[in-house]
Amino acid sequence: MTCTSETLRIIEKAAQGDVTGREEIVRLLELDAPEELDALFRAADRMRKACVGDEIFLRGIIEFSGYCSRNCHYCGLRAQNREVVRYRIPEDEIVARAHGLWERQCTTVVLQSGEDRFYDRERMCSLIRRIKAETDLAITLSIGERSLEDYRAFKEAGADRYLLRHETANAGLYRKLHPGYELEDRIQCLRWLKGLGYEVGSGCIVGLPGQTVHDLADDVLLIRALDIDMIGVGPFIPHPGTPLRDAPAGSTDLVLKMLAVLRLLTRDTNIPATTALGVLDPGARRNAFLAGANVFMPNFTPVRYMELYEIYPGKGPEAGTIAKASEGGYVALFEGMGRTIGRGCGYREKKACPREPGSCAGGAA
Ligand code: 5AD
Ligand code: SF4
Repeated sequence: MTCTSETLRIIEKAAQGDVTGREEIVRLLELDAPEELDALFRAADRMRKACVGDEIFLRGIIEFSGYCSRNCHYCGLRAQNREVVRYRIPEDEIVARAHGLWERQCTTVVLQSGEDRFYDRERMCSLIRRIKAETDLAITLSIGERSLEDYRAFKEAGADRYLLRHETANAGLYRKLHPGYELEDRIQCLRWLKGLGYEVGSGCIVGLPGQTVHDLADDVLLIRALDIDMIGVGPFIPHPGTPLRDAPAGSTDLVLKMLAVLRLLTRDTNIPATTALGVLDPGARRNAFLAGANVFMPNFTPVRYMELYEIYPGKGPEAGTIAKASEGGYVALFEGMGRTIGRGCGYREKKACPREPGSCAGGAA
């Protein structure tokens, strides 16, 4: 089967920055003929090259606390999962770990945890200040919903970026999966973070039970409307210690289509090939770099804690590297794909790629 002219027209429109409609996004997410997928991924790859270049930026993750007060239905770290051994890495050990990142070509440290109130404003600020004073790393926080005052204090202490996935743009589904919490409050946090001058990451899970392709189109539109700088999208992976233990995993092909559509529609954003994608299929994570992705987030949590931070199964020490290669194997892999390892801190460079339709050199071809 060859591409229909209608499909090509929508891909072409997306590459020109002209796709805004929910139905057109749905059409792209429903493509399944190999020729059509190939056309979509190639267009996204060209957009990636034109707007963010061939560099792949490495962000080293340190999962510094396994405590969480929330009960997200999909996540193994949910408070009600009593099987989890909880830990907090001492501050000195976190900072020592951060010191090792630069020589491994990571220019950013991502400090990630569950929603852990032990890390109050003072403790977080002290950690941020120390890492800023002792290293040249950019600091990304991924510690959940906090008050505006907390976000402001973290920024003043030296945090540069913040990751807070919206998880799903369907408010009803959000409420079902996060009892007691509202999507609107999460979006408010993202707006605060933007307003404070953070580079802001968000994103969603693909394949949540009850989620439709229209919901995914709404995820794309929400990300675009909020002008999100970094976009994390991964497949749902069922965890035995959660209410969703028997639900099927998300489709890696659908994740790849989401990444491609997001690259075409947001152009100069930073898009990681997520760990969850690599856990379900290491080949799919490699393919993500051919479908729009430009960021890789290796896990630098000390191994004895890493196994305890099980948001989904399979996320162990092996998953941090592509195709389960030995540590550092991904560098050779990227170079083999004609890509280089990013040397700066990898901030979003809006000026290099204005977002007006047609302004990106490689957009349409
Ligand atoms: N499958 C896939 N992704 C998950 N996350 C949490 N649990 C799962 C799961 N079972 C994602 C959420 C969260 C991020 C840290 O991990 O999107 O924001
Ligand atoms: Fe906690 Fe995050 Fe897991 Fe939700 S997804 S239970 S907030 S660690």
